[in-house]
Amino acid sequence: MGLDGRVALVTGAAKGIGFAVADRLARDGARVMLVDIDAGLAAASAKKLAGAGLEAESAGADVSKLADVRAVVAKTIGRFGQLDIAVNNAGILRATRLEEVTPEEWDLVLAVNLRSMFLVSQQAIPHLKKSAAPRIINMSSNSGRMGGFESSVSYAASKGGVIALTYALAGQLAKFKITVNAICPGTTDTDILKGYSAEARERLKTRVPLGRLGLPEDIAAAAAYLASGESGFVTGLMLDVNGGMWFG
Ligand SMILES: NC(=O)c1ccc[n+]([C@@H]2O[C@H](COP(=O)([O-])OP(=O)(O)OC[C@H]3O[C@@H](n4cnc5c(N)ncnc54)[C@H](O)[C@@H]3O)[C@@H](O)[C@H]2O)c1
Repeated sequence: MGLDGRVALVTGAAKGIGFAVADRLARDGARVMLVDIDAGLAAASAKKLAGAGLEAESAGADVSKLADVRAVVAKTIGRFGQLDIAVNNAGILRATRLEEVTPEEWDLVLAVNLRSMFLVSQQAIPHLKKSAAPRIINMSSNSGRMGGFESSVSYAASKGGVIALTYALAGQLAKFKITVNAICPGTTDTDILKGYSAEARERLKTRVPLGRLGLPEDIAAAAAYLASGESGFVTGLMLDVNGGMWFG
C-alpha cells in the first residue's frame, strides 16, 4: 500500500490484531512503534519484525494513562522523528453477565478501550498536523454496532463510544486533513476470545454467514487501506470486517 517514509504507532501491538496491523504496515513500508502494556512481549514482537528486515521499535505503556501515552509518543518522535499514522487498537474484553458487572469493571473497560483512544489521538495531533498524509485508525467492534452477543455491556458501550469518538475526531480534524476512521471487526481468532466459554465461542461461530472467524490478517488488510494514500478522501468511516455478521 506504499507507506514508505511514513511512521505508524500501533497500540496493543504485542499480539493479536495489533501485531498483525504492525506487521502489515511495516511490510507496506512504514516504520512502526509497537506499544503494549506487556513490554516484554512487545519487544519480542518488534524483534520478530526487525528479524524480517522491517523497521520496528517497541515501548511498554498502559495507554489508559496520560503519562504513559505522552512517553510513548515522545519515544516515537525521538526514534523516528515523525508520526503519520496512529492506530488505536489496544482493548480488553470482559464476558460478565449484566447482573454481575461491577462499577470497577465498567471503569476499567471504558478506560482501556475508550479513554486510551482519546489520549493517544490528543497527544498525536501536533505531530499528525505536520504529516503529508495523517491518519487515525480506531479499533471498534461489531459489538459497538449491535450491542454485543456474548461480551459484557461494558465492552459494547466502550466500542459504541469508539464509534462516536471517531465521528467527533473526524469532524474536528478534517480542517487539518487528518482522516479518522474506525474498523469494526466481527469475531476474530485471537486471545481475546479466551474470555468466552467454549459454548459461547461455538455460538459466535454460527453467527458468521461466511462460515469462519476473522483472522488478524483480515483486519490488518482493512487497516492497511485506511493507512494508505488510497483512502485520502475517506474519513468518518466505520469499516465492518465481519464475514457478514450483520445477517447472522
Ligand atoms: N478478536 C476479536 O474478536 C475482536 C473483535 C472486535 C474488536 N476487537 C478489538 O480489536 C482490538 C485487539 O484485540 P485482539 O483480539 O487482538 O486482543 P488481544 O487480547 O489478542 O490483544 C490485545 C492487546 O492489547 C494489549 N493491551 C491490553 N490492555 C492494554 C493497555 N491498557 N495498554 C496497552 N496495551 C494493552 C494486550 O496486552 C494485548 O497485547 C481490541 O480493541 C478489541 O476490542 C477484537
